[in-house]
Amino acid sequence: MRIAIAGATGVVGRHVLAAAQARGHDVLPLTRSTGHDLARGAGPAGTSLAAALDGVDTVIDVASVQTTSAARSRAFFTAVTSNLLRAEREGGVGHHVALSIVGIDGVDASYFAGKLAQERLVAGGAVPHTILRATQFHEFTEQVTARLSLGRLLTPIPIGRYRPVAAREVGARLVEVAEAAPAGRARDLAGPREERLVEMVRRMFAHDGVRRPVVEFPFPGAYGRASASDVLRGGADADRGAVTFDDWLRSGDHTPIGSRTDAAASTRT
Ligand SMILES: NC(=O)c1ccc[n+]([C@@H]2O[C@H](COP(=O)([O-])OP(=O)(O)OC[C@H]3O[C@@H](n4cnc5c(N)ncnc54)[C@H](OP(=O)(O)O)[C@@H]3O)[C@@H](O)[C@H]2O)c1
Repeated sequence: MRIAIAGATGVVGRHVLAAAQARGHDVLPLTRSTGHDLARGAGPAGTSLAAALDGVDTVIDVASVQTTSAARSRAFFTAVTSNLLRAEREGGVGHHVALSIVGIDGVDASYFAGKLAQERLVAGGAVPHTILRATQFHEFTEQVTARLSLGRLLTPIPIGRYRPVAAREVGARLVEVAEAAPAGRARDLAGPREERLVEMVRRMFAHDGVRRPVVEFPFPGAYGRASASDVLRGGADADRGAVTFDDWLRSGDHTPIGSRTDAAASTRT
């Protein structure tokens, strides 16, 4: 099967790519680093996205933007999804697979506003689709500390009550979904254990040898209220990954802070 992966260099995208290749698929990465700007709807060197998708059976969309602005998130996911769906129709792609987030119904705020806009476009679009929702990745601890650390002084962490899952397991599930027929909504995928984000960050710092205070704060608005409630943990009917946060910390999938090049890395004490 020829599978195009939008966002193939991202946290989950690189696992989607590896899983698809390991299962013998012919893979086409779609990212700016491969010359595809999905927000602008452009292929490499002035070619169209539809031309790039010629011969592709399925598109897995795991492109993303890092923002807490609802307007920016909506603009990104609306542009990327509209451009992909248009090119897929023109290019004859038979299945659009999108990754979304467990428990975001009615949370039309911050980053989640873009995810809801994306889901609506995919569900209402003409390309047969499957939407898989997953909980926060274990890797979210790396993403959030890279963005929020205040030098060596302090790492403020929003209240987050999650059931986190390994991005590797989400990547493998997305490839299984791509191999199956379009299903509309797939079963949610959550991790094996309930966790609190601040405790995950403290364990990651201890593991990586970072001595820096971590304080929890309530993130404002509807996004913060959802994160502090149980809704993002998903229901009892969700499928469960097997890799715990502590398994992941000890695995090669976690990049210790001392080996990273982001802001958190530069403030190691
Ligand atoms: N992180 C989580 O905890 C979590 C949990 C559940 C679901 N999800 C969902 O998983 C998906 C991926 O999230 P992630 O955290 O893995 O993302 P990420 O690490 O931020 O990666 C984003 C990817 O999108 C690509 N990209 C960004 N702008 C682009 C553009 N204009 N054109 C083409 N490609 C572009 C990036 O590549 P270039 O920079 O090279 O373009 C990169 O490959 C998102 O839909 C997110 O909502 C995430």
